[in-house]
Amino acid sequence: MRAGLKGKDLSKKHAIELPECMGAICGVVYLLIITIFIPFPFYKEIVAATSGGGNREYIIEQLYQVETGRFLHRFPHNKLSSFLSAILSLQSALILGIGDDLFDIRWRHKILIPAFSAIPMLIVYFVDFGVTQIVIPTPLRSYLGELFDLGWLYYGYMAAFAIFCPNSINIFAGVNGIEVSQSIVIALLIMLNDAFYLSPFTPYPHPATDSHLFSLYLLLPFTGVSLALWWHNWYPARVFVGDTYCYFAGMVFVVVGILGHFSKTLFLLLLPQIFNAIYSAPQLFHLVPCPRHRMPKFNARTGLLEPSVAKFEKPLRTPVETVMKLMDKLMLLKVVKNDEGRVIQSTNFTLINLWLVWFGPMREDMLCTTLVAFQTACGLIGLLVRHKLALWIFTQDNL
Ligand code: UD1
Ligand code: MG
Repeated sequence: MRAGLKGKDLSKKHAIELPECMGAICGVVYLLIITIFIPFPFYKEIVAATSGGGNREYIIEQLYQVETGRFLHRFPHNKLSSFLSAILSLQSALILGIGDDLFDIRWRHKILIPAFSAIPMLIVYFVDFGVTQIVIPTPLRSYLGELFDLGWLYYGYMAAFAIFCPNSINIFAGVNGIEVSQSIVIALLIMLNDAFYLSPFTPYPHPATDSHLFSLYLLLPFTGVSLALWWHNWYPARVFVGDTYCYFAGMVFVVVGILGHFSKTLFLLLLPQIFNAIYSAPQLFHLVPCPRHRMPKFNARTGLLEPSVAKFEKPLRTPVETVMKLMDKLMLLKVVKNDEGRVIQSTNFTLINLWLVWFGPMREDMLCTTLVAFQTACGLIGLLVRHKLALWIFTQDNL
């Protein structure tokens, strides 16, 4: 706080100042743990199976082996490079987050940075895995074939995914505890999905076992540090997580999704974030004015949170206005019109505000709890769709 890293908790009667950017501590502890962990997944290879250990016992018996060399079990450099590139990407996401908390980097500048963070991972993906085909759903196979090669577009898709994840968590924020809680729920759901690929659910060995173990290695410590942060950030918050945590958490999901080869499944666990991002688009692209903060408004009289609003001094463009009036009719927004029927005010375009439009004013912890329950329900349905309903349009589940 002495260094200026503090913020006002705007949804309280007396707006006290709290330390901001606590996600940095979380991220640093995480990186320490994961760095110390590097040798452990490779214990078997280092000690028993490769020339670092067990191969020394294989004595050269014939002269030609001296001249031509011999094939021994090789150390899995590809797995090690996946792991190291993951750490590199997470480190750069952490630096970006801290930079943003310190200097409030402009949106148009910071939007591309996660794509740069993803480069080390994408190179490993290219060298080690390189799959850029997507499986075509059965109804479309007569037109497109069984597999469709996206080629370089697939790398574009993964870079876009790297931009989306961190930002989508950062804009689904503004209520005590929600950033950490949603991240913990997403991490738990991914780990549940990982467990399906391990014994006893799937017999060992399975081609996807290693990728899902990799995902667990990264997500278990992430859940640990997040729970510690959650303890301090839950209502009434004693610390703020800062953009550092949002970017960091988002990048953890990007890393496991890309290097674990299940980025498309991950989308099913991020449905509220996807909805919130699409719903926010009119304000993010300034079709509708966007205030600095869109978090719900605290009503000091009732102690409850209400939807926050954006007021429009200049008249909106007619098509925008028409769509907003339609959304109001569909209960997707709440607008206020003047005597001439022109829209002069509307609720801010976030899922959190929409939730309050639907269910009425709520206390801050109730709002967070119900939203997190919604996230959990969406995720569980997503997993069900992934492993059961997908069989309607794909020939098989890869379990
Ligand atoms: C994003 C959102 C913004 C939202 C903000 C809240 C977009 C485009 N931006 O901005 O609308 O208001 O997150 O996190 O959607 N704060 C609280 N209570 C909380 C959490 C945060 O009062 O539970 C306040 C504190 O004053 C804190 C500040 O929000 O200092 C942090 O905001 P910051 O993370 O810098 O906002 P953005 O990520 O830029
Ligand atoms: Mg933020």
